[in-house]
Amino acid sequence: MYTLPHHFEFLSDAWIDEARAWFAQRRDRLGAPFSVSERMTDAPPHLGLAGGVASWTVRWDGSEASVARGFDAGADATCEGDYQAALMAAQWVGLLAPGAVEAMLREVRALFGADAIRFGGRGLPEGTVELMAHFHDHMGRKTVENPDLAHRARRLGLTRHVREMEDQGYTIVERAISDGFADEVREATIRALSENQAGAALNWMTYQGREFERLVQNPLLMTLIDASLGRGAVIASISAIKRGPGPGFIPMHTDYAHVPEPYPEFSLTGVGVWALEDWTVASGPTWIVPGSHRHRRPPREGEGHNQGVPVEMPKGSVVYFHHGVWHWQGDRTEAGERVTIHSHFNRGILRSLEPKKTDVQMLHRNPPRLGEMLGEDDWFDKMSAHGRDYGRFAYMERLLRFNEAGRREILGEAEPPRGQDLAALVS
Ligand SMILES: [Fe+2]
Repeated sequence: MYTLPHHFEFLSDAWIDEARAWFAQRRDRLGAPFSVSERMTDAPPHLGLAGGVASWTVRWDGSEASVARGFDAGADATCEGDYQAALMAAQWVGLLAPGAVEAMLREVRALFGADAIRFGGRGLPEGTVELMAHFHDHMGRKTVENPDLAHRARRLGLTRHVREMEDQGYTIVERAISDGFADEVREATIRALSENQAGAALNWMTYQGREFERLVQNPLLMTLIDASLGRGAVIASISAIKRGPGPGFIPMHTDYAHVPEPYPEFSLTGVGVWALEDWTVASGPTWIVPGSHRHRRPPREGEGHNQGVPVEMPKGSVVYFHHGVWHWQGDRTEAGERVTIHSHFNRGILRSLEPKKTDVQMLHRNPPRLGEMLGEDDWFDKMSAHGRDYGRFAYMERLLRFNEAGRREILGEAEPPRGQDLAALVS
């Protein structure tokens, strides 16, 4: 399937097998009898689940633990909802941290609505809540993103955005995080700038706190990145910029450094800029020349300014531009400071600006998505004296192919890869 051997997809057979092994290993420590059951709808078709329903139940009777497919509405604790929404929750590691469950549900509900995940049942015995939190974290560390790009984009409401960013070179996703999280990221950014005596800008932001680890994995922005740069896209840089009133200090440019003209027909690099306050013309937003990526070259002196449009969007939104589209930083005419996080990604075959720091503790407190963007899952920089990492090569090749099929499906260039076609794609 579409994972490395040590990862799995949410509620896939491999996921169920891992759950079974986890409870079996803790047979002596499971405490009072309990049962937990979950049912998620609209699972991606390639999982091959009847009706697209992904379900499982764990039942501990005091002597035997059973883990199986199927939903039991009479379980002590039940969870039902949309597969993609539940996947976002399933990848949230660290549930025992103070406020973590509330923060997780806040973000899931900000993206998918209040009823996206529903809980039921009479409740779990004392001690089992903590046990299940550990189980959740263990599984989250190994649970990958839904590799079916077309299905995922539909479930995330991003099909229009993917088409728009192909057509215009950019798109805006409004309110991609909750207001509360936007405030937390802004506060953490100001703290990091101050602690590092950084003034107006700081890079390597992923290593400045948990808020940034979470922000950088936002499923909406990552889906746009997958749809433009392919899977295995890596962090080029995660930067913070704080600016006050005055003229913009980043002139018209593209983000293609040292790329020869004409630029390639496929996108090499993309940047998502997070608005941590409302963006208006007065706040000095990014200005973009729509469709300018089709020139496949940088702007010449004085060119394009009269065709630019300001990016106006509410707090918690992200603008994503890619493919060598022309843009610049606008003048700020209002008081106060604009604080932004710039999530710059490169296609996985390119080098980055930030050296990648492999922090095993950081990887341990996050799902595999973070490792992927730090280059953990591809074969680059893995060759040893004894050879190449063909396992990672084959995995990424399959994933890239499936992802590209999804991109073409979204853009209407091909029929959906279903049935026979899908089987051919996997083989
Ligand atoms: Fe730029």
